[in-house]
Amino acid sequence: MSEPDLLLPPGFRWGVATAAYQIEGAWDADGKGPSNWDTRAHLPGGLADGATGDVACDHYHRLAEDLDLMTGLGVDSYRFSVSWPRVQPAGRGPWNGRGLAFYDRLVDGLLGRGIEPMLTLYHWDHPQPIEDAGGWADRDTAARYADYAEGLAVRFGDRVTRWITLNEPLSVMHAGMTGASQEPVRRHALRVAHHLLLGHGLAVRRLRARTRGGEIGISLNLAGMTAASERPEDVGAARRAEVFEDRLFLDPLLCGDYPHLDGRPVIEAGDTDRAVIAAPLDFLGVNWYAPARVAASESAVFGYERVPFPGTSTNMLGWPVAPARFGVLLGWLRENYPGLPPIHITENGFPGLDEPDVTGSVQDLRRIAYLRSCLRQVRAALDAGTDIRGYHVWSLLDNLEWEHGYRPRFGLVHVDFTTLTRTPKASYRWYRQLISEQRHDG
Ligand code: NOJ
Repeated sequence: MSEPDLLLPPGFRWGVATAAYQIEGAWDADGKGPSNWDTRAHLPGGLADGATGDVACDHYHRLAEDLDLMTGLGVDSYRFSVSWPRVQPAGRGPWNGRGLAFYDRLVDGLLGRGIEPMLTLYHWDHPQPIEDAGGWADRDTAARYADYAEGLAVRFGDRVTRWITLNEPLSVMHAGMTGASQEPVRRHALRVAHHLLLGHGLAVRRLRARTRGGEIGISLNLAGMTAASERPEDVGAARRAEVFEDRLFLDPLLCGDYPHLDGRPVIEAGDTDRAVIAAPLDFLGVNWYAPARVAASESAVFGYERVPFPGTSTNMLGWPVAPARFGVLLGWLRENYPGLPPIHITENGFPGLDEPDVTGSVQDLRRIAYLRSCLRQVRAALDAGTDIRGYHVWSLLDNLEWEHGYRPRFGLVHVDFTTLTRTPKASYRWYRQLISEQRHDG
């Protein structure tokens, strides 16, 4: 076998991940309503290079081809998200049958191919009417979201293997952090964080009541913080970064309260909310791309800023390429959270400018090297006693990287965004081989 050090325990789930807005296209097809991201992309200067998700990978119309790509890879699990405005355009009330039917075809197509569906309820796109009512800054959004969760549970609860309530609530909070004066921005951000968590907790209850045995989790983007120096200001900055990023969601979910700073929780929440948020989880989803090195900054909203890692290269998005830090983060989780549920790595990936060479093949060798190094860290963490059950590469397809547009390519499969032709890259073949070796040597 070519990767003996990447042999993981039998039953470990190998997968790939995507998200609705980034791949589906069909932005107004079959009764879908506009989302906050449709609106943003359609504004002048919205996303880089004028990109929109109107067509994206046109996955909505190319479902069968994309399912075949997954079969070809041999994955056990596919993580995708449901577009809330596709299935409930107003964010409350009536359901859109044609939108739901698309996810029926997807879920049934996966099950028919022996692939476990891992369904993310919220990967950042919500109905525009929800945005108009204040988005996550409005407490009522948590209730609307819980109703939406129940609707999906009723429809798909007999078939979905794993549920993810929210994808990267920290990113949602960060995306809303605009404005000049620090204190209002900070208050707004923390309100958004609390409402996301409340929505999560309410959704967990509804999912438990309405699904048959599916596991329930949430996906957090965690970094792992390092102070830029031993100066007390920077050490304090690293502590603040930990509190306002890695611990902000972990602590209320796993320990029942927000992290403390200067003797007080950073969000003062009532007992009822805290109990709702701390509903037991079947797994924790971890999205990991890069660690953070931070220094004190008085002008920053939370008093710290990211600074480069000396001597470490960066990828095209400027993120440090430091896969060994993935292991540090996994160790930190194990040591700091005694009640840690089993982990699924729900995203890990590498952005590139990949294009076919003259022979038509895409040699994304940096991606392979990066994924391999990250998987070595997963293997080491498992050996050290961390309960990790699965791993999903971000992403199956090159897709719309949010405000960055289509330039950063994360896919194992190249997408030509003019012709929508799919071309498996070298990383696709590498991952396929790795997965097949797990089966034969186990
Ligand atoms: C985080 C997000 O969940 C996903 O949507 C995004 O494309 C990747 N990471 C890469 O930035």
